Amino acid sequence: ELNERIETVLESLRLGDDSLRQIMQLLEQEMDTGLSPATHAKADVKMFPTYVRNIANGSETGQVLALDLGGTNFRVLLVNLLPQGEVRLTSKIFVIPQSIMLGEGVNLFHHLADCLVDFMKQEKLNQPGVHYPLGFTFSFPCHQEGLASARLTSWTKGFTCAGVVNEDVVKMLQKAIDEKNINVQCVALVNDTVGTLMACAYKKPHTSIGLILGTGTNACYMETLDRVGTWNGDYEEPKQVIVNMEWGAFGNNNRLNHVRTRFDEEVDLSSVNPGKQIFEKMISGMYMGEIVRLIILDLMQQDLLFIGQCDNYGDYRIPLFIRGGFYTKFVSTVETDEGIAFSNTRRVLQDMGIRNPTYDDCAIVQHICKNVSKRAARLAGAGLAVLINRINKPQITVGVDGSLYRYHPRFKRNMEKCIKNLVNKNIKFEISLSDDGSGIGAALTVAAEVLSCQSDK
Ligand code: BG6
Ligand code: GLC
Repeated sequence: ELNERIETVLESLRLGDDSLRQIMQLLEQEMDTGLSPATHAKADVKMFPTYVRNIANGSETGQVLALDLGGTNFRVLLVNLLPQGEVRLTSKIFVIPQSIMLGEGVNLFHHLADCLVDFMKQEKLNQPGVHYPLGFTFSFPCHQEGLASARLTSWTKGFTCAGVVNEDVVKMLQKAIDEKNINVQCVALVNDTVGTLMACAYKKPHTSIGLILGTGTNACYMETLDRVGTWNGDYEEPKQVIVNMEWGAFGNNNRLNHVRTRFDEEVDLSSVNPGKQIFEKMISGMYMGEIVRLIILDLMQQDLLFIGQCDNYGDYRIPLFIRGGFYTKFVSTVETDEGIAFSNTRRVLQDMGIRNPTYDDCAIVQHICKNVSKRAARLAGAGLAVLINRINKPQITVGVDGSLYRYHPRFKRNMEKCIKNLVNKNIKFEISLSDDGSGIGAALTVAAEVLSCQSDK
């Protein structure tokens, strides 16, 4: 019995399988544009080769430090790789204040180094003469020229630190570390997607895709070298390299305009990076709650929701009227309600400033959330389907991490359902939550690329 006018608004969010197939074609074209040296510069999906070519196999042993920056939390980790593939992990979360996220780049790296020193003191890792290799998970688009050389091409997800774009972030980090007089050498930089792939591959050998559905969204996968025209490393075995797609930027060249809604446009225009990360803004946690909020406001304006419940429309003290006031975690909370009690939904709406939401109000808000999150799951699913078909092996595991995927009650199911219709029937795929975060993947990358070479010698 939900009102037809509501359905008209939500209709713009529905993407059938045919639309998804068309999006898959567009994405694959964009991928080839990104991988080809002639067209790379104008590509929106950059397809950066990462220089990660080996997957840790459990034979490496040693102690590795890692920094993990770019998601909800900044973390410092100590990863102990023991014989027989056993891994021991200690980690500590530190806060990155807003003033640092938006301030000078040098201050960001000083802060990272300060946190590292603090952690090393806590873990008593300051014995003289001991060298610690460090892996850096840095979850932003970087043009890599080696495993430990990466130029930031642009900030995403709300970071805007000055003086970092076009700079080598490994050099900036190392300089800040060296000023602290600690024996730490950053030997690898990885994106969080790569860290996730590596961490998952350690447990599940068929892993060839890493996916993040969190604050942002992105994927990486193992590509054969002869398809990577932009590769300028060596062609020794294994003839493969992990490619960091930066798929969040899909649509920056208007290729997705036909499926974007006015709510997507508004989210984009009010962001710190308008015109950028268009695909990401339709999917990830930094934006999903805001899309829902804008739809709620639209229905309120049409007198279809909270009728007579809100006489102070536009009051800036009411969270519902504040940009960003409806967090994506509320979408998950609302969608965990089953049946007709709507106890979670009611609580969320009350916290948002609606004193007495009715049964209809709750049902409509849940319906909005379901439509928005389902579209996100289907878009991400279409992206994964492209990769699964392209890799085309009989068995493929996708390692996934990120708060959206972790906490949303239906994201996985929605994504799997949609992928099944879009991939070659002879491929068995599995989507697997990567449990330990991507910092551990950075450490495993160090192990696979550096420790294993040392033990070969
Ligand atoms: C984890 C990482 O793997 O997932 C983070 O350790 C990463 O650094 C994250 O960016 C993505 O999740 P979120 O939800 O924190 O953005
Ligand atoms: C953003 C970043 C990307 C990262 C993703 C998930 O899209 O640009 O590098 O992987 O968020 O954190």
